[in-house]
Amino acid sequence: MINIDSTADNQSLQNLVLAAQQAALRAYAPYSQFTVGCALLSKSGRVYTGCNIENASYSVTLCAERVAAAQAIAHQDREWDSLVVVSPQRVSACGVCRQFLHEFAPDLTIWNGFLEGLSLEGPFFLHQLLPGAMTLRSIHHPLSNS
Ligand code: THU
Repeated sequence: MINIDSTADNQSLQNLVLAAQQAALRAYAPYSQFTVGCALLSKSGRVYTGCNIENASYSVTLCAERVAAAQAIAHQDREWDSLVVVSPQRVSACGVCRQFLHEFAPDLTIWNGFLEGLSLEGPFFLHQLLPGAMTLRSIHHPLSNS
């Protein structure tokens, strides 16, 4: 775990945390009350944010990470550097989000934080969080992972 200070080196990470915390304020989470925010930094330097969006049909729910990633993809910005996710109890991306993110950025760096404050846990690397991810190659060569 690290605590970000406001030195120049950590400025972009700090900005990501603040952007994720702002995004969490826009969460639609009437069922769980668990608000999550995410900020995704692309290699071009742009930041895309997302919040969780729940649904009365629970499984339709979108996690904050997938919403942020979809924003980036919709802007044709598919090369990503790092991602910060903030939540009340600090969670890491769920399995579905790991797979979704892996499609575009297997080397993505992930940091986990809270809705307030600047303490972060990380860095975690997506390819370590999701060994054996499903890839385009898995489909073209179905036996190559066995
Ligand atoms: N959630 C996220 O948005 N991101 C995560 O990494 C974990 C879970 C959301 C989904 C649901 O709306 C709520 O948190 C409780 O699981």
